[in-house]
Amino acid sequence: MEAHIAEWLNLLVRWIHFIVGVAWIGASFYFNWLENHLNRQALQEKGIDGNLWAVHGGGFYHLKKFENGPDKLPEVLHWFKWEAYMTWVSGITLMCIVYYYNAQAMMIDPSVLDISPFLSILIGIGSLVVSWVIYDQLCKSSLKENPKLLGALIFVFLGVLAFILSLILSPRASYIHVGAAIGTIMAANVFFVIIPSQKELVKALSEGRIPDPSFGANGLLRSRHNNYLTLPVLFIMISNHFPSTYGNQYNWLVLITVSAVGVLVRHYYNIRHLHKAVWMLPTALFGFIMIVMATMPAKQAAVEDANKVTTAQIMPIITQRCASCHSAKPTQPGFAAPPAGLAYDKPIDVENNADKVNTQVMQKIMPLGNLTQMTDEEREKVSLWYRSLEK
Ligand code: HEC
Repeated sequence: MEAHIAEWLNLLVRWIHFIVGVAWIGASFYFNWLENHLNRQALQEKGIDGNLWAVHGGGFYHLKKFENGPDKLPEVLHWFKWEAYMTWVSGITLMCIVYYYNAQAMMIDPSVLDISPFLSILIGIGSLVVSWVIYDQLCKSSLKENPKLLGALIFVFLGVLAFILSLILSPRASYIHVGAAIGTIMAANVFFVIIPSQKELVKALSEGRIPDPSFGANGLLRSRHNNYLTLPVLFIMISNHFPSTYGNQYNWLVLITVSAVGVLVRHYYNIRHLHKAVWMLPTALFGFIMIVMATMPAKQAAVEDANKVTTAQIMPIITQRCASCHSAKPTQPGFAAPPAGLAYDKPIDVENNADKVNTQVMQKIMPLGNLTQMTDEEREKVSLWYRSLEK
């Protein structure tokens, strides 16, 4: 009953997180696109920086961007902030439901570091807070005069975070916490810097004075960071379904390189209207292919006939180490249905999923948190079985 409710709660919060995240990043992409596509050449009215015509959903839209702002504030002014706040709130709620509620299984991997669930949660939450504080201090330091160096340092800092977390938490948990740290930085940028700078803009306008330029400059810097962080954060959020990423021995390096590809792709879309960026997409694609090659699993040696292992021979291992969760009727507390829809009650279920079973067992991702204490000999036997299969 409790596990059943938890599953539906997971679904509901994930659904909400996804929807508000789409709204946030969608709006951010849209305004970025708008800024880059404003027609600034056409003869403008006084005080207008650029304009743009668009057709969408059966109507024409005509937008203008003001150089400084309108003479008089409009009655209704739309802000874009709730998408960001709700994405963060729903994301943290989801972390509680999926990772913290089940910390022994989801946060800890004894082969990485055997810590208590409480400590793992403390480190998880601590990593979000510390990331924001360090990032914020970097942005406030004199480095802000040199945005390129600052950007590079932030990237290095997040890479170091990925490395450190990979030494402490389970692979999935370390990935998701880097993602959550980036998400926290982005949402806090909106809350602590971008919205206050817009408020200053509006306040100055209503008081008929020139806005304090430092607000605008900080707001711009932070929203540029947010823009470049979107693709890495989205990659990390979906990476949990791809064991070739988090399951790799150098999973932190995979995270860094895929993120670098994401930043490059984002950069291409930011400056392509300048027509100086043709090399970027092919380079990103090349980098991506390199990652695919570098993470290619080593070819496993063939098994001699005498050592062949049949599915029937590994079924006792699967039943003991996997089927407490992966069964039509799991016995593991906290599981109402087979996780990822995978039940290993019958040999045929295991054979049909041979690739996945082998990958998860060899990369020591499964059994989750090694709760069922699978031994290395048993893993070796599963590998022998996999290599014995007729493929
Ligand atoms: C303590 C519970 C538990 C045990 C024991 C367990 N698993 Fe899992 N397994 C999970 C959960 C939870 C997921 C879903 C993770 C997700 O998608 O976030 C999962 C997912 C999987 C997946 C799908 C991974 C993917 O993303 O494609 C495979 C394959 C798998 N398990 C195999 C195994 C094998 C093989 C064993 C035994 C050696 C095993 N599991 C033992 C809980 C468990």
